[in-house]
Amino acid sequence: MKILVVGGGGREHAIIKKLKQNPTVQTIYALPGNGGMAQDAVCVPIGAKEIEKIVEFAVQNGVDYAVVAPDDPLVLGAVDALNAVGIACFGPNKAAAAIEGSKVFAKNLMKKYGIPTAAYQVFTDPRAACDYLQTAPLPAVIKADGLALGKGVIIAQTREEALAAVHAMMEDKVFGASGNQIVVEEFLTGPEVSVLAFTDGVTVKPMVSSMDHKRAGEGDTGPNTGGMGTVAPNPYYTEAVAQTCMETIFLPTVRAMAAEGRPFKGCLYFGLMLTPHGPKVIEYNCRFGDPETQVVLPLMESDLLTVMQATTNGTLATCELRFAKRCACCVVLASEGYPKTYQTGFPLTIPADLADSVYVAGAKLDQGTLVTAGGRVLGVTAVADSLADAIHSAYQKAERIHFENAYCRRDVGQRALLAEKE
Ligand code: AMP
Ligand code: GLY
Repeated sequence: MKILVVGGGGREHAIIKKLKQNPTVQTIYALPGNGGMAQDAVCVPIGAKEIEKIVEFAVQNGVDYAVVAPDDPLVLGAVDALNAVGIACFGPNKAAAAIEGSKVFAKNLMKKYGIPTAAYQVFTDPRAACDYLQTAPLPAVIKADGLALGKGVIIAQTREEALAAVHAMMEDKVFGASGNQIVVEEFLTGPEVSVLAFTDGVTVKPMVSSMDHKRAGEGDTGPNTGGMGTVAPNPYYTEAVAQTCMETIFLPTVRAMAAEGRPFKGCLYFGLMLTPHGPKVIEYNCRFGDPETQVVLPLMESDLLTVMQATTNGTLATCELRFAKRCACCVVLASEGYPKTYQTGFPLTIPADLADSVYVAGAKLDQGTLVTAGGRVLGVTAVADSLADAIHSAYQKAERIHFENAYCRRDVGQRALLAEKE
């Protein structure tokens, strides 16, 4: 089979490595991929948002199955466009991808179907939003409606910050049209859990849980990033919590989407907070998480392509999905300064024996030499029988990978280790 994967980060590298384990897979094209995954896929310089070019490439090259991994092309309708020319795809269509593409849609869906989430108000007028924020409880959580590269959430501790966020999103349009509407919601507290789940629109099968480390600095300080590391499973996510989430969140969400005429097929990402009043949805994503995928897929024992095709064909109920009862840790090596300003272009060396453990996100080939080309450069994953061993091993591997301005958080997994002891 010829497979096409849309996207070019660490998540896509993890998906590609896992897909390669299926013996029927002959070729994987990555659009655009990156220089660091050139050994695993044929990288083609077509951007993830260039939908017409993606479709043209898929048709011309006889692609049998496409996996659309990032949010942007899903929200723009890449799956619809590929399906229209007869190419089967993993991922939701445009109507279903709205669950991530519009926070207003997602919040209204949860309200309508009684799915637990933070209380909220929607604003289309900046003056009304500012009036409300003059007296709203603090901290206030302010979210741009549309996609914003993971930066569209402001947790305002003061009224000044809250008003500044409204001005930036709704008047200065720092996230473009994504700020035409905003959601202001209640501030929740509790441990966060990421759960990625396969669904075919009817059946939902969760993968092993995970914990992201979103802030740039140790001890969860500094600005939000795309994710500086992950561990799986998440020790806060007990069997009892999992059962509650299935009954009150996962199944109701899948049923709600079907009832709205937007059946969701693909990977639905539940960003959960385990509050004193039970698990609540912080956000939905219409795709695999990054870097959650880099710990979840290495623990997956079932064949990824088979499960993906079952979500497309509506046969997930009879498809086995099994995970190893082991632990994984992924440490992200970033360019010093990320997520703000940073330098790139530094030569990057990855020892050959670590190739299976490294998922490259931001690197390119420059006259045959691999050099850094992004904020998050790569993730290093280790799998072990205990969380402590997985963390230790991931850092040992990370020590052996060098580039000039490498930065990583030293405390990935420490919160999870403490939780294990509680
Ligand atoms: P998101 O981009 O939606 O994942 O939000 C980024 C981060 O903001 C989340 O991982 C949470 O840590 C935090 N967050 C979002 N919504 C809330 C909320 N209602 N209460 C507390 N923290 C939140
Ligand atoms: N790691 C969070 C996300 O993928 O959105």
